[in-house]
Amino acid sequence: MGFLSTFLYSQLFVTPPYPVKSFAGQTVIVTGSNTGLGLEAARHFVRLDAEKVIIAVRNVSAGQRAKQSIEESTGRENVCEVWELDLASYASVQAFAKRASTELSRIDVLLENAGLATEQFKFAENQERTITVNVISTFLLGLLLLPKMEETADKDKNPTKKPRWTIVCSGAHALTNFPEYKEGNTFANLSNKEKSDMTVRYPTSKLLEVLIVRELAPKITNSKIILNMTDPGLCHSELAREAGFSLWLMKLLLGRKTEVGSRCLVASAVVGDESHGAYISNGEVSNQHLSAFVISDGGRKAQENVWSELKEVLENIVPGVTAWT
Ligand SMILES: NC(=O)c1ccc[n+]([C@@H]2O[C@H](COP(=O)([O-])OP(=O)(O)OC[C@H]3O[C@@H](n4cnc5c(N)ncnc54)[C@H](OP(=O)(O)O)[C@@H]3O)[C@@H](O)[C@H]2O)c1
Repeated sequence: MGFLSTFLYSQLFVTPPYPVKSFAGQTVIVTGSNTGLGLEAARHFVRLDAEKVIIAVRNVSAGQRAKQSIEESTGRENVCEVWELDLASYASVQAFAKRASTELSRIDVLLENAGLATEQFKFAENQERTITVNVISTFLLGLLLLPKMEETADKDKNPTKKPRWTIVCSGAHALTNFPEYKEGNTFANLSNKEKSDMTVRYPTSKLLEVLIVRELAPKITNSKIILNMTDPGLCHSELAREAGFSLWLMKLLLGRKTEVGSRCLVASAVVGDESHGAYISNGEVSNQHLSAFVISDGGRKAQENVWSELKEVLENIVPGVTAWT
């Protein structure tokens, strides 16, 4: 099946299963969990007995409202903690990672869900902000928390309970032909307003996530943690708030309920070793949902190039953060 027919089939005929597996004793971080898919995923984790759920948000009062809503619907209090995290600021990412590494006794799930879709070109940390938030800060945070996740793995030594590092990606990764990488200067090109086609910026950011997970996962050779990526399908949320009319209309016609989409996020924290470096769609490992470009020779070359370019960017922010790769 081609991309369009696979997408339509999933949206119209597939309902991801309701999560039932217990997260008892586990500490879970969900970024961007004040609203949308992140909020509903956090609600599932609390309902499924997680010991601690960190609501990692840029707007703390919105996070407090999310916590209250979760406590009311699940009847479980003192499980959620609201922590500030603004992915548009590298200082905020580093402060959050330091706090998590020192204050949490373990990290079983890092669900990197926060993201934005916008056609307005604005800078954050000298990069176009979609790339800063969806790509650079997302991987910076995961890499900074990796030692804590490995420490958690060492405590348990239970292969069925390996810590999961999950990036929420999107089928939209197939909607760009990604010319920027061909010049070998991807991040500079993406931060050049004159060269930027913002109508495909969100898909480009999601394609970058996919390429980087595929390149990075095999480098995590100690097998202590699982790095995967999950596509919730097109869902109702606030994601279209800065995007165009067409995305809004598509959601109206085809969108999943937010809770239904969030099941895919929870599923990615359950699936096993086979999901390492893999794409999860409808809650199941499903590399056949990757775009033709990603699995082509060009895609493999692109993933090598963008990872080596991202490494340089990350090393400029936190020297040594990629040293082990
Ligand atoms: N909805 C879909 O159809 C769909 C499909 C495929 C993939 N996804 C992915 O799912 C994830 C969640 O999206 P959603 O649909 O739930 O959208 P949403 O309702 O707009 O939620 C996005 C979350 O990300 C947070 N966020 C944005 N910029 C941030 C920043 N600088 N620092 C920290 N947090 C930030 C938002 O916080 P604020 O509320 O403070 O802005 C919000 O909590 C995204 O990664 C998106 O790409 C969504």
